[in-house]
Amino acid sequence: MSGFDIQRRPLKSGSTVLLFVLAFVLSGHCCPDKCVCSSQTVKCPNQGLDAVPNSIPAKTKILFLTGNNISNISRASFPTRLELLTDLYLSGNNMKHVEAMVFDNLPNLSRLDLSNNSFLTFDENAFPQDNNLQFLNLSRSFLNHSFVDVVLEFLHSANLLHLTTLDLSNNDLVILPDGIFSSLSNLTSLSLQNSSLISVQNVTLKSPQLRDLDLRNNSLRTLDSSTLVELSVKPDLQLQLSGNPWRCNCIIDEMLMWLKNSTQVTDKQDLTCAEPESLRHQPLLQVELSQLKCSSDMERVLETSYVFLGLVLALIGVIFLLVLYLNRKGIKRWMYNIRDACRDHMEGYHYRYEINSDPRLANLSINSDV
Ligand SMILES: *[C@@H]1O[C@H](CO)[C@@H](O)[C@H](O)[C@H]1NC(C)=O
Ligand SMILES: *[C@@H]1O[C@H](CO)[C@@H](O)[C@H](O)[C@H]1NC(C)=O
Ligand SMILES: *[C@@H]1O[C@H](CO)[C@@H](O)[C@H](O)[C@H]1NC(C)=O
Ligand SMILES: *[C@@H]1O[C@H](CO)[C@@H](O)[C@H](O)[C@H]1NC(C)=O
Ligand SMILES: *[C@@H]1O[C@H](CO)[C@@H](O)[C@H](O)[C@H]1NC(C)=O
Ligand SMILES: *[C@@H]1O[C@H](CO)[C@@H](O)[C@H](O)[C@H]1NC(C)=O
Ligand SMILES: *[C@@H]1O[C@H](CO)[C@@H](O)[C@H](O)[C@H]1NC(C)=O
Ligand SMILES: *[C@@H]1O[C@H](CO)[C@@H](O)[C@H](O)[C@H]1NC(C)=O
Ligand SMILES: *[C@@H]1O[C@H](CO)[C@@H](O)[C@H](O)[C@H]1NC(C)=O
Ligand SMILES: *[C@@H]1O[C@H](CO)[C@@H](O)[C@H](O)[C@H]1NC(C)=O
Ligand SMILES: *[C@@H]1O[C@H](CO)[C@@H](O)[C@H](O)[C@H]1NC(C)=O
Repeated sequence: MSGFDIQRRPLKSGSTVLLFVLAFVLSGHCCPDKCVCSSQTVKCPNQGLDAVPNSIPAKTKILFLTGNNISNISRASFPTRLELLTDLYLSGNNMKHVEAMVFDNLPNLSRLDLSNNSFLTFDENAFPQDNNLQFLNLSRSFLNHSFVDVVLEFLHSANLLHLTTLDLSNNDLVILPDGIFSSLSNLTSLSLQNSSLISVQNVTLKSPQLRDLDLRNNSLRTLDSSTLVELSVKPDLQLQLSGNPWRCNCIIDEMLMWLKNSTQVTDKQDLTCAEPESLRHQPLLQVELSQLKCSSDMERVLETSYVFLGLVLALIGVIFLLVLYLNRKGIKRWMYNIRDACRDHMEGYHYRYEINSDPRLANLSINSDV
C-alpha cells in the first residue's frame, strides 16, 4: 500500500502545477463565467454572484459587479494584482462587510461605487496607505442610523488624500460624526442630500478645497451665525440648500440677510419657509425682516403658563376643601353661632318690622321722608 502512495504523489503535484499554470494563463485572457468582457471592461451585473469572480483579466480597467449578492469583500476577493483597474462598481449588492486590505491588489483604483448596500462594518485598513482613490459613492449605504458612526470611522483613519468627490446622500445621518471630513484634505465635492441632517456645524472647516456642497432635502431649519461665518470665509464654495424646512421666525434673520446678499447658494430662489403657517411655501427671498416674528413661541409659552395657573388654582381649591373638611366641627359650631346671632338679630328686626307695619307710624315715616 505505501508503495502505491509514493508512486502517486509526484503525479498529483504535477497536475496541481499544470492547473495553476492554466489558471494563470486563463486569468490573463479569458472572460469569467457570467461576465461580458470588451477590451478593458468587464461587466457582470445582476448575475446573483455571491463573490467577486476570480480570474478577472489582468488588463481590466473597469469592473461592473452591480446588483449581485456579494455580502462581503476581503483581501481574498482580489487574489491577483490588477495594476490597471481604476473603476470598480459594487452598488446594490446588499453588502455588509468591507474587510482589511481588500483593495491592496488594486493600486490604481480611483473610482469606487459602493452605493445602495447595507454596511454594518467597514475596516479602516481597507485601503492601502498610498491609495489613489478620488471618487467614492456611499449613497444609500447603511442598513440604518445605528451603524453610521461605526461605518464612517474609516473616513478619518484611511489615508484618502486624493479623494475629491464623496457622495453620502440618502443616508439617515441626522448629525455628522465629529471631524468626519477632517482628513479629506483634497475633497472638492460633497453630497449630503436627503440625509436627515438637522445641523451642519463645522462641516466645511477642515476641507480647504471644498467647492461644491449639496445639502438639499435635509431637516435644516436655520443656519446659525457660526456656520454663516464658516461659509463666508470660503467664497469659492457653492451650496445647494433647497428642500429644507426653514423656520421663518426671528431666529432666521441673520441667515436671511446673508442669503439675500450671498452668491454662494446656487438654488436660493427655491428656498421656502415651512413655518409658521402664515409664511408656509413663501420663498425665503421674498420674506421681509419685519415678517419674522417669534409670536408663535410666545403663544406657546403663554399657553403653558395658563395650564400651570389652572393646576395651581385646582390645587388651592382641593386644599381649601380639605381644610373645610378637617374643621367641619369648628365650622358647625361657627355656623350655629352665626345662626344664633342671626336669630337674635332677626328677632330685633322682627320687632322693628312690627313697628313699621303699624299704619299710623308708617304714615308718619312717609311724611317725614317728604
Ligand atoms: C443572497 O445570499 C444569501 C446568503 O448569503 C441568500 O440567502 C440569498 O438567497 C441570496 N439572494 C439571491 C438573490 O441570490
Ligand atoms: C464574509 O464574512 C464572513 C463572516 O465574517 C466570513 O466567514 C466569510 O469568509 C467572509 N467572506 C468573504 C468572501 O470574505
Ligand atoms: C438597490 O439595490 C437593489 C438590489 O440590492 C435593487 O433592487 C434596487 O433597485 C437598488 N436601488 C437603487 C435606488 O438603485
Ligand atoms: C498604475 O499605477 C502604477 C503605479 O502604481 C503606475 O505606474 C501606472 O502608470 C498606473 N497606470 C494607470 C493606467 O494609471
Ligand atoms: C452614486 O450612486 C447613485 C446610485 O446608487 C447615483 O444615483 C448617484 O448619482 C451616484 N453619485 C455620484 C456622485 O455619481
Ligand atoms: C438597526 O438594525 C439593527 C439590526 O437589524 C436593529 O437591531 C436596530 O434596532 C436597528 N436600529 C434602528 C434605529 O432602526
Ligand atoms: C491633493 O491632490 C493632489 C493631486 O491629486 C496631490 O498632488 C496632493 O498631494 C493632494 N494633497 C494632499 C494634501 O494630499
Ligand atoms: C432618502 O433617504 C432615505 C434613507 O435615509 C431613503 O429611504 C429614501 O428613499 C431617500 N429618498 C429619496 C427621494 O431618495
Ligand atoms: C465646532 O467646532 C468648535 C471648535 O472646534 C467646537 O467648539 C464646537 O463644539 C463644534 N461644534 C459641533 C456641533 O461640533
Ligand atoms: C426632495 O424631496 C422631494 C419630496 O420628498 C422630491 O420630490 C425631490 O425630488 C427631492 N429632491 C432631491 C434633490 O432629492
Ligand atoms: C454683501 O456681500 C459682499 C460680497 O459678496 C460683501 O462685500 C458685503 O459686505 C456684503 N454686504 C452685507 C450687508 O453683508
